[in-house]
Amino acid sequence: MMNKRVYIKTVGCQMNVLDSEMVIADLRRHGYTVVESPNDADCLLYNTCSVREHAEEKIYSALGKIRTQKERHPEKLIGVMGCMAQKDQEIVFKRAPFVDMVVGPGQLHAIPGLIDKVRAGEGRQMAVSLSRNEGSQAVIARSHETFDPLRDPSMRPTPFQAYLRIQIGCDKFCTYCVVPNTRGPEQGRLPEQIIAEARTLADQGCREITLLGQTVNSYKFRHDDGAVTDMAALLEQLHPIDGIERIKFVTNYPKDMTERLLRTIGELPKVSPYLHVPAQSGSDDVLRRMKRGYTIADYMEMFERIEHWLPEASVSSDFIVGFSGETEDEFQKTIKLVERCRFKNSFIFQYSVRPGTKAAERLPDDVPREVKARRNNELLAVQDAISKEDNYKFIGQTVRVLVEGLSKKASKDPEAHVVQMTGRTHCDRIVVFDGNRRQAGEFLDIQIDDVSCHTLVGRVRTVDVVTIGDVS
Ligand code: SAH
Ligand code: SF4
Ligand code: F3S
Repeated sequence: MMNKRVYIKTVGCQMNVLDSEMVIADLRRHGYTVVESPNDADCLLYNTCSVREHAEEKIYSALGKIRTQKERHPEKLIGVMGCMAQKDQEIVFKRAPFVDMVVGPGQLHAIPGLIDKVRAGEGRQMAVSLSRNEGSQAVIARSHETFDPLRDPSMRPTPFQAYLRIQIGCDKFCTYCVVPNTRGPEQGRLPEQIIAEARTLADQGCREITLLGQTVNSYKFRHDDGAVTDMAALLEQLHPIDGIERIKFVTNYPKDMTERLLRTIGELPKVSPYLHVPAQSGSDDVLRRMKRGYTIADYMEMFERIEHWLPEASVSSDFIVGFSGETEDEFQKTIKLVERCRFKNSFIFQYSVRPGTKAAERLPDDVPREVKARRNNELLAVQDAISKEDNYKFIGQTVRVLVEGLSKKASKDPEAHVVQMTGRTHCDRIVVFDGNRRQAGEFLDIQIDDVSCHTLVGRVRTVDVVTIGDVS
């Protein structure tokens, strides 16, 4: 259809991947088709992230690259959506004057209408309201329920895995973090809507759902009668849904990893014993400057609680190195924490000042770039060595894997019968093995022969042949 070919580029976290899925679902309902190349599109959308400066630079540079295209074809509509749209607002128009539309994460449902307005000659459009509606949590939640239920299976990472938002926004205001500014206040979604959406996903063939929230384990919903559904209760309600075989959730906040939640995870076999619980730093002083709301003693207490209730669990973390005032001694405390907890893996980031945050206003960005880079490498080396050492324990073992598809190294030859496939264990470990494309979406038992720090390598375990007469 004329004017209705849309291209979308998505950067940032899983929230953005999910938002893009829903924007595309919405646009398809309005008659749009998705194209893979900006050259073929009438409408180009950029779903953006502001968490670090680098993420923003990537988008401004992608926008720079389409500038000449836009000059040649002024009718091509260019939209910037997501967290950077929210944070930069008018600045997007200043830095990239050819952009037609700026839409924040709270206004994505408005996109089809805004495109029509631009096309009708009403000029640039901007929608960035994040205001909280008045009323009880149920009233507020219902007012948000126009958008999330839109789903588009074709936009998912795989047809049998889907994200499901259970919480919007964040109220924690860690001093370095832009997310509360871009995503607005924390709000739990209505449990019945979450359950209904999970059922829809199961009907569409999803076998694994990943529940999303910035502090997902803090999820709480206060009903009009005063009753509260917390994360543990929500997991109990999701667990019986037929077709869903694995339930994961990210990202966890250390302070809310309660015994009740851990016990519930242990009792529900579909819930993955995989917990991403970012520590951010191993130093109490740094944690205080970050306003994370816990000490290392609190974190260790939580960690021991996990080990007690979920001895098989894998735990992963995020760290920021080179945060304002971080001394060598404080950094070494982070190394110690990683050595004590032996995380499955850690995502390590160099501190990036974010305008509008408390740290940007009050704390100097005083750790030199080279020091940040060196600490990043040092921490990564420690974590990688631990990951690899722990992975060795899997050699000779058999693990159950949900096969996701071709591995990055897989042969591109469509005729090839045997190709390298990739999948994940219940504990979120990546497993590659020689198989075939039809195995995608299946659960398979893989015997592990070799490991690296991020991957287990194995082969499909075949059923042992039992000779008749040998059935002892
Ligand atoms: N809500 C999640 C994470 C959100 S952002 C949580 O609270 O854990 C993902 C990760 O980016 C964070 O865990 C943090 O490690 C990193 N991050 C956030 N702001 C950053 C900044 N200004 N500079 C560098 N890394 C940052
Ligand atoms: Fe950012 Fe902290 Fe909220 Fe996570 S908990 S999104 S790091 S403010
Ligand atoms: Fe980025 Fe927004 Fe996610 S800032 S990390 S896309 S919530």
